[in-house]
Amino acid sequence: MTDLSLVRSDFPILDRSVNGHPLVYLDSAATTQKPVQVIDAIDEYYRRHNANVHRGAYTLAAEATAMYEGARERVASFINAGSPREVVFTRGTTTSLNHVAYGWGLNHLQAGDRVLLTMMEHHSNIVPWQLISRYTGIELVYLPLSDDYLVDLSKLEDLLDERVKVISFSGMSNVTGAVGPTDLVEAARSVGALSIIDGAQLVPHMPTDVRALGADFLAFSSHKMLGPTGIGVLWGRPERLEEMEPTEGGGEMIRDVQLHESRWAPVPQRFEAGTPPIAEAVGFGAAIDYLSKLGMDEVRAHDRAITGYALERMSTIPDLTVYGPEDLDQRGGAVSFQLADVHAHDIATILDQYGIAVRAGHHCAKPLMRSLDLAATARASFYVYTSRSDVDRLVDGLLEARTVFGLA
Ligand SMILES: Cc1ncc(COP(=O)(O)O)c(C=O)c1O
Repeated sequence: MTDLSLVRSDFPILDRSVNGHPLVYLDSAATTQKPVQVIDAIDEYYRRHNANVHRGAYTLAAEATAMYEGARERVASFINAGSPREVVFTRGTTTSLNHVAYGWGLNHLQAGDRVLLTMMEHHSNIVPWQLISRYTGIELVYLPLSDDYLVDLSKLEDLLDERVKVISFSGMSNVTGAVGPTDLVEAARSVGALSIIDGAQLVPHMPTDVRALGADFLAFSSHKMLGPTGIGVLWGRPERLEEMEPTEGGGEMIRDVQLHESRWAPVPQRFEAGTPPIAEAVGFGAAIDYLSKLGMDEVRAHDRAITGYALERMSTIPDLTVYGPEDLDQRGGAVSFQLADVHAHDIATILDQYGIAVRAGHHCAKPLMRSLDLAATARASFYVYTSRSDVDRLVDGLLEARTVFGLA
């Protein structure tokens, strides 16, 4: 097994205790912990370089601008983009998807058009489309899942026709861990539709090459890949970004402003109105350096190994059901589960007493939960610092929970 958990000493928070026990952090699908390299980069930026970007003629402003744009270059090469100009900094995946829905969708979609989604979408890839359907009259249609929790592509034939103008799908589920159907990119192309990938879970966990993926847009968040909160990315094909209208107006995004009209700055500044998250970009750049040094193939191999170990150990716990694909090639490291009919929040509360952090709830994917006939699950999710002993502690905690709830 590739043991990336050796990097644990880079993550100061993992040294702390919670409720008298060493912390076991198993909520990385919600947000990841930060290595000291990222924390130090942000600290150093504020101590030595802080200034606003793009408009100062003095040294600090030039340094801040170089650091901000340097982060954009790092992101571009991390996802093999053609140019840093294809990388728009946003607040995160949610904002990125809203940019496309409002900036592209409002201007290109009309009544009778369809947006094709899947049943495993996060709310951030559902609600923006519902919001613009109020203005445009578009219809949302959903590809169902098969029994193995993967998107059922055999149903595509029934749904794919010239009314479909957008196909937007998750590259990896934050609930079941299932990988998304990248074949949908080709399907979109076959009917001249736009393809969008919600990469919030995909990009942190798999090597990502936007040229190989072939989609029109990819959205992801820094905080799910060791970077700070408050910054994320909308990558877009240059011609698609040109077709998109800005959704926010203000400073930084204009070329000229007259009293009654304005002309926009070039892409990507056109979509970055106002003072951007500069320190966050610097921290994000450090996170990308950190992941690149580990190597994304290694990150994927570690995820795979730790998930395999977790699934194997959890399968020995009586009354425990795991919801997600069994095939490790078809999944990442988010493991949703239920213990008999014990409420997921009660499981999470018991585990917390042992210092183990798991999430409980609908995971911002209510349509998916309903399709699985569930109100809530508990979820353990892993990243580069997760060790086998973390999984062992989870299993011990769940066995304890069985006793507490009278199942043992
Ligand atoms: C699959 C997926 N999409 C979108 C999001 C939204 O990301 P953010 O809250 O960083 O905007 C998440 C966050 O959990 C996610 O897991």
